[in-house]
Amino acid sequence: MTAPSVDPVAELKILETEALVCTMCELSESRTQVVFGSGDPQANLAFVGEAPGKREDEEGLPFVGPSGQLLEELLGEIGLTRDAVYIANVVKCRPPGNRDPRPNEIDACKGYLRTQLQLVDPNVVVTLGNFSSKLLLNTEVGITKLRGTAYEWWGRFLVPTFHPAAALRGRAQVLEDLRYDFSLVRDILDGNLGTEAGTEEEAPASEPAGDPQQLGLFGQ
Ligand code: URA
Repeated sequence: MTAPSVDPVAELKILETEALVCTMCELSESRTQVVFGSGDPQANLAFVGEAPGKREDEEGLPFVGPSGQLLEELLGEIGLTRDAVYIANVVKCRPPGNRDPRPNEIDACKGYLRTQLQLVDPNVVVTLGNFSSKLLLNTEVGITKLRGTAYEWWGRFLVPTFHPAAALRGRAQVLEDLRYDFSLVRDILDGNLGTEAGTEEEAPASEPAGDPQQLGLFGQ
């Protein structure tokens, strides 16, 4: 008997349908809507932010507020649009008052992100800010130290960078650093990674490269 064929785009749609009615944590009580993810479900490049804000909660789409505007600008500078990439968050529901997501909320939600990344299967994942960078690289090291390098990650590349909101808070250097990290992404997509890429060993406490289908992408 032949195994049923798996259509990752259809599977992603099914996962979204499940997530839209999720009640696995208390954020489900205060959200307007679940913000599952958006963009090309077969993208070569995926972005992972922290959590939906007010605008995202209202519209049901990630990065549609001020941070999203900057993200789109940075994408434009490397010749991409938001429709050409996949965008998701660590938690799918807005924390009240935009507080930080709590560990139990991240735990409850991370299965969605893991499966999203397995199904989209991008070659490059960009983590925006501390929450997604620490979760995916399985480290307590902060984004200021992590960024500036591409890490080998489960047979693909992971580029941790600042959250666009950090640049909007005002330090010009943050925007410059974001631009540098986006240029790394462009280099990887162009096949010009060069020798500056980090290794697994340099990614603090990163999991070893392996088959994401078998091993789970992060945090078992
Ligand atoms: N900040 C995030 O981390 N994600 C969004 O979707 C919007 C703002």
